[in-house]
Amino acid sequence: MRRLENWDNNTWLSSDKYISKFHKFLRLKFRFNKNSKILDIGCGRANIISFLQKKYKFNNKATGIDIVKNKNIKKNILFKKSDAINFLKKNKKFDLIIIKQTIHFFSKEKLITLLNLSKKNLNLNGKILIFSLKTKNNKIPCFKSMKQKLDISLKKDEFLLKIVKKNLEEIQETSFNFKVTVSKQKYIRMIKDRYISCLLNISNKKLNEGIDEIQEKFPNKIKFTDALKCISFRK
Ligand SMILES: C[S@@+](CC[C@H](N)C(=O)[O-])C[C@H]1O[C@@H](n2cnc3c(N)ncnc32)[C@H](O)[C@@H]1O
Repeated sequence: MRRLENWDNNTWLSSDKYISKFHKFLRLKFRFNKNSKILDIGCGRANIISFLQKKYKFNNKATGIDIVKNKNIKKNILFKKSDAINFLKKNKKFDLIIIKQTIHFFSKEKLITLLNLSKKNLNLNGKILIFSLKTKNNKIPCFKSMKQKLDISLKKDEFLLKIVKKNLEEIQETSFNFKVTVSKQKYIRMIKDRYISCLLNISNKKLNEGIDEIQEKFPNKIKFTDALKCISFRK
């Protein structure tokens, strides 16, 4: 399987502005303090929990797990290269479990196991926050065949989100929106790097044709809203 190595590397997702706005959103959902135990499942380079660790100086360093050990993972957190389910089977307790833009890597059965283990690993009054791309009217700039793949993937997300809601029962649903401005050249670089899951299995030929399409179709400054759904569960 091809890996998402370029997801949070030098994109708006790693920008200070994004992380800071994301933190403000998290703060509305969870009251951080020095004793909070934080886990980020599918943390990538751990930009988010690294920010939280710097800000709140948790006594127990925030933990990030990912099946891939990327280059440049933030150093001020505890990183474990592990499959989420294997990690959670070790049964450690956390106050906040973040699962951001990661559930689409799981099958229905694995997702149910992930949710059950996450609940089991959560302290009383703890929170699970699950983030996933908004499935309706998504604004991610696409070329034609990328859009087709994205739509298929968003259909799967819709199905998975139903499973999440059914499994977690009492949930709150909100959204996190971030206004992106990116130069066309930078966005093309991100596409070349296959920054998003729906680009992982596109052939080089289709990718190059798509880049020509983006060159033609989009202005030099691309603007859109990156919109995520957030499902929040309290134990
Ligand atoms: C789209 S990235 C999101 C990264 C980060 N959460 C963010 O929002 O910036 C999804 C991440 O999930 C990781 N991942 C996929 N399957 C996983 C699994 N079974 N266990 C742990 N991590 C997994 C991938 O390696 C990738 O880093």
